[in-house]
Amino acid sequence: MTQRMILIHSPYFFSEERIKTVADWAAVFGNDHPLSLEIGCGTGHFIVERARANPDRNYLAIDIFNRGCDKTCRKLEEEGLANVRVARAEARHFLTHYLTPASLDEIFINCPDPWPKKRHRRRRLVNAEFLRLASAILRPAGAFYFSSDVADYAEEVARLLEDSPDYQRAAQAPVMADLPDYPRSKYMLRALDQGEPMHFVHYRRLARPPALAAPPLQAGFRMNWAAASP
Ligand SMILES: C[S@@+](CC[C@H](N)C(=O)[O-])C[C@H]1O[C@@H](n2cnc3c(N)ncnc32)[C@H](O)[C@@H]1O
Repeated sequence: MTQRMILIHSPYFFSEERIKTVADWAAVFGNDHPLSLEIGCGTGHFIVERARANPDRNYLAIDIFNRGCDKTCRKLEEEGLANVRVARAEARHFLTHYLTPASLDEIFINCPDPWPKKRHRRRRLVNAEFLRLASAILRPAGAFYFSSDVADYAEEVARLLEDSPDYQRAAQAPVMADLPDYPRSKYMLRALDQGEPMHFVHYRRLARPPALAAPPLQAGFRMNWAAASP
């Protein structure tokens, strides 16, 4: 799909040129409140509600879809929220180049493109490699939220998180039918209106990186593993 590029003049909007000038997001917001990121914010339903409910937190909302960024900025202007900024950016590029390790308190991904056909599933945004990148940018105990109306995508993400040494579950089950106080995005509302269930996944980055597992000791071989570790 080609995008008709519209110039976005909103004060909420950070073009790629403007993002490159940001040395410190705390300076942009004028405070050092915890920083959250929504990836694929679409038209901004979720981030507006979440940011309105949490004025003591700062939010970045990114999307590769220019028109979605524009609509999100318009909603923010109507609401007059001071704690959100919007950028048109690709998620992996943004995490790698514009955020520093352990700088995020929360990551939200709601109804990402599902790529439902089996042969297209490797195009899905969230995979083991993405989760490793996200864990490096989350602060210790930082939260990772994922939601989808596609059951097998949510189950796959939950399985990857359960298997990962970097995360621990923050909800009662790997996949939940709902999360308390979690705002609805446009795609969530669409699914729920059509009677389709939603699937929510909530994990946290481990507070401390997992200890290196010692290799099994060979019979007759003694060594001080801790001293030998880098
Ligand atoms: C299905 S829509 C869901 C929008 C919104 N989260 C919602 O639930 O209503 C997926 C959104 O993710 C954006 N997107 C897809 N891949 C992306 C990527 N790699 N980086 C940033 N945004 C992406 C798309 O442009 C689109 O707006």
